Amino acid sequence: MKKLSQWPVLCAIVVLAVACGRPQAFTAAEQCIIDRSAEVMYVTVIGADSTVLRTPSADLTPAELASDRLKTLMDKMYSTVTSPQQDGVGIAAPQVGIDKRVIWVQRFDKPGEPFECYLNPHLDSLWGEMTHGPEGCLSVPPMRGLVPRYSAVKVSYIHPETLEPRTETVEGYTAIIFQHECDHLDGTLYIDRADTVFLHASWKETRAQYDYSRPAWWPLKENQTN
Ligand code: NI
Repeated sequence: MKKLSQWPVLCAIVVLAVACGRPQAFTAAEQCIIDRSAEVMYVTVIGADSTVLRTPSADLTPAELASDRLKTLMDKMYSTVTSPQQDGVGIAAPQVGIDKRVIWVQRFDKPGEPFECYLNPHLDSLWGEMTHGPEGCLSVPPMRGLVPRYSAVKVSYIHPETLEPRTETVEGYTAIIFQHECDHLDGTLYIDRADTVFLHASWKETRAQYDYSRPAWWPLKENQTN
C-alpha cells in the first residue's frame, strides 16, 4: 500500500519534469502582447521602449516556429506595417515588443512589390557600393536621417510556410530595408549609423489623426532612455 500510494507523487514529478524540459514558445510577456494586441499593434518608440528596442533578438525556437502564436504575430505585424498610420516598408518584431528574429520587408525588387515575412533572418554578407540614403523608422518619430548602406546583401532565413532554411541575394533599395530591419534584431537603430539626423517636417500633420498611446495592459516596463 505504501509503495502504491507513492505512484501519484512520482507521476506528478515526471509530468512536471517533462513539462519543464519542453522548449517554451514565447515568454509570458510576449504571449500577452501577441494575444492581447489589436490587429494594428502598439509600435515601440525610442525612449519609452528603448529596453526592448536595444536588446538583441533571439532566434525563434523550434517550438515557436511551429506555434500558432507565431502565425498570429506575423499577421498582426503585417497589419501594423501596412496600416495607414504606420505606412512602413518594413518592420521588425522588437518594434512590437517582441525580441525575436521576425521581420517583414516590402520587396520593391519583385513584381507587385509584395510584403514578405522572414523568420530567423541573418545577413551572411554585405557588399557593393556604399550609398547614403534617407531613412526613417516607425520607432524613431519624428526624425529622418542620411544613412550609409551597402548595395547588396546575402540573407539566410527560415521560410514562414515551409519552415525550410533558405539563402537569398538581394540588391538595391530592398537590400537597404533588409539592413535596416536586421539592425533592429541586433538592437541597432538607423540613428546609430546616420551621418546626419533631422526633423521630418510633415510628420506631425500626417500622424495627428491616430492614437499612438501604449495600451494600459502593456507588460513591458521602461528602464532605459536611449
Ligand atoms: Ni525601423
